[in-house]
Amino acid sequence: MMQADPDTIVTAERVRWGILGAANIAVKYVAPAIVTSSNGELVAVASRNPARGRDAYAFVPGVRVYSDYESLINDSEIDAIYNPLPNSLHAEWSIRALQAGKHVLCEKPLAVTVEEGEQMVEAARASGKLLMEAFMYRFHPQTVWTLKQIAEGRIGKVRLIYSSFSFNIMNPPRPKDIRLQAALAGGSLMDVGCYPINFCRAVYGHSPVAASARVYTPAGYEVELSANAVLDYGDGRFALIDSSFDLPARQVAQVIGEAGKITIPVPFTPGMHEATVILSVEGQTIHQHFAPVDQYRLEVEHFASCIQFGHTPKLSLPVSLENLATIEAIYRSAGYEWPR
Ligand SMILES: NC(=O)c1ccc[n+]([C@@H]2O[C@H](COP(=O)([O-])OP(=O)(O)OC[C@H]3O[C@@H](n4cnc5c(N)ncnc54)[C@H](OP(=O)(O)O)[C@@H]3O)[C@@H](O)[C@H]2O)c1
Repeated sequence: MMQADPDTIVTAERVRWGILGAANIAVKYVAPAIVTSSNGELVAVASRNPARGRDAYAFVPGVRVYSDYESLINDSEIDAIYNPLPNSLHAEWSIRALQAGKHVLCEKPLAVTVEEGEQMVEAARASGKLLMEAFMYRFHPQTVWTLKQIAEGRIGKVRLIYSSFSFNIMNPPRPKDIRLQAALAGGSLMDVGCYPINFCRAVYGHSPVAASARVYTPAGYEVELSANAVLDYGDGRFALIDSSFDLPARQVAQVIGEAGKITIPVPFTPGMHEATVILSVEGQTIHQHFAPVDQYRLEVEHFASCIQFGHTPKLSLPVSLENLATIEAIYRSAGYEWPR
């Protein structure tokens, strides 16, 4: 009888990664995650300022540093590109990388509009390469466990979700931040509000049927600094979500069902700390603890293993397009011109 090959994973070739730009998220989190991953290696990066890029990625032994993005995506020794460029450049450089025959892990939100997102999806289809939106929190065990409890009916039919994500972008002041620039598709909903939207979609299994929202753009700012929305999922099921750049750092996801509730106190960036999810059903409360884990490493290992074994990525492109449609619906409801 044929035996399954126990060495399949070990013998698969490591995925060779390239990174576009010396973005903060790349340098601090995703590049270290690739370097420590079990199935990938960081081969090359590109920066418009190669001296700064070389410094930023000095912790990666032997990494090639290109001075332009084009050279990186045409490097024949790269299998996958990680795209952490400003939101306005997600579509252009992901499409170019796909057309150059690379798989692409693209930062959230996938694009600026649904139309742009659809062009990216078409580029992935035409090239036969993988494209996935980098919602790293979906790989954290606390998220996986929470969604499983909900799917198994532990809290009954879900009727309401509260989810927030904010931080104070003025403390310390960073007026040149990409998040504050209209031309780079900044805004709090784009930057952090997209997480609650993605979480609600994961819980309800579909996008909202309607959105009612308000956003706030203080005088002198190019983009909204806070967004607040009621999302209607039909059949008496709602979500209240908010995002902000001018409130203290806070995040939460609370899911209320007809039989109980689940709260994730730090749902999106729990960091390398123990995480806890609180489940309350029929007067009983359980605190479920999760050991510290690098959710970025879980994300890049997942994407690399999809490349190695031809699997479909966990985060699907239709859902990414739905996320963009919800962002557009919120902005439309608030009377906020989008894209700016
Ligand atoms: N998943 C997460 O946890 C997470 C966290 C934070 C941010 N993000 C996402 O990651 C992306 C980057 O965020 P970030 O805060 O890391 O950005 P950042 O530090 O400002 O870096 C963006 C990089 O893009 C490159 N770039 C190209 N054209 C640019 C332009 N016109 N203006 C500014 N930069 C330009 C620059 O690289 P070079 O100059 O080196 O070429 C720059 O370092 C965003 O899409 C954001 O939503 C995700």
